[in-house]
Amino acid sequence: MLLLKPDLQSMIEISSPLKIKSHLADLKKEGKKVGFVPTMGALHQGHLALIKRAKSENDIVVCSIFVNPLQFNRKEDLEKYPNRLKEDSEMLNKVGCDLLFTPQKEELYAEQPKTDFNFGSIAVGMEAEYRPGHFEGVAAVIERFLSILSPDKAYFGEKDFQQLAIVRWVKEQFNFDTEVVGCQTVRDENGLAMSSRNYLLEESQYLIASEIYKLMKYCQTKVGETAPQVLAKECFEKLKPNFKPEYFEIVDGLTLQPIKSWEESNQPRVFVAAYLGSVRLIDNLSLV
Ligand code: PAF
Repeated sequence: MLLLKPDLQSMIEISSPLKIKSHLADLKKEGKKVGFVPTMGALHQGHLALIKRAKSENDIVVCSIFVNPLQFNRKEDLEKYPNRLKEDSEMLNKVGCDLLFTPQKEELYAEQPKTDFNFGSIAVGMEAEYRPGHFEGVAAVIERFLSILSPDKAYFGEKDFQQLAIVRWVKEQFNFDTEVVGCQTVRDENGLAMSSRNYLLEESQYLIASEIYKLMKYCQTKVGETAPQVLAKECFEKLKPNFKPEYFEIVDGLTLQPIKSWEESNQPRVFVAAYLGSVRLIDNLSLV
């Protein structure tokens, strides 16, 4: 008989929403706290940091891998989204994830999802402008996940800061008890934010990609000196030789609306989206 050491115990994969709901209900009856990390797969160190944080604050960690078609406004983006389920499962197993939830869209969206939300200012501009319908799709899937899994805490990376604001909005709007935990962006040694899309970059593009971080750091040095919109425009232009920038904005971290003067906000934040070749990169950084 093969006896598994506890540290080699395998994670359980469940694809049925009903099964995972009832499995978690049993665990919750035993008083177990559940932490949840939603992903679309193609996992990287940023995701693993979320899993580790969830592990340290809960008894059970659930990770979902679901490439949510509703949040893709471009069919080509959905089609080329990296699929690495085998590698992902191995990585999750290694960091001690307990449950992997891999629903099929037919089951997850068996009931027509709601997609007409009124998010207010947090969904005006930036990703909302360049990816119309994206946040409606994110909100729809988060609503589904939180109602199926009812986790105690759910973990999201700050790299998708505008998405994090949308998730907090969903929590409030639908009165979910889940605590939404925002976690710091994980970066490589040159400052490039970890992202599943980095798998699509060529080796030679990695260093160029980190220019985005360098420009955001440069903004930190200009706070109170150069007016926010002048600074944003300057950096947008600086991106042009190597990137196709979509936006470079300095906004208030709460309303996510552009600021005209530094006095207008006590939590200014810079947000960037730019194409490097055919890969769309986004990032953001606090300026205080
Ligand atoms: O950030 C992501 O990977 C996705 O938008 C999320 C939160 C898993 C929803 O599909």
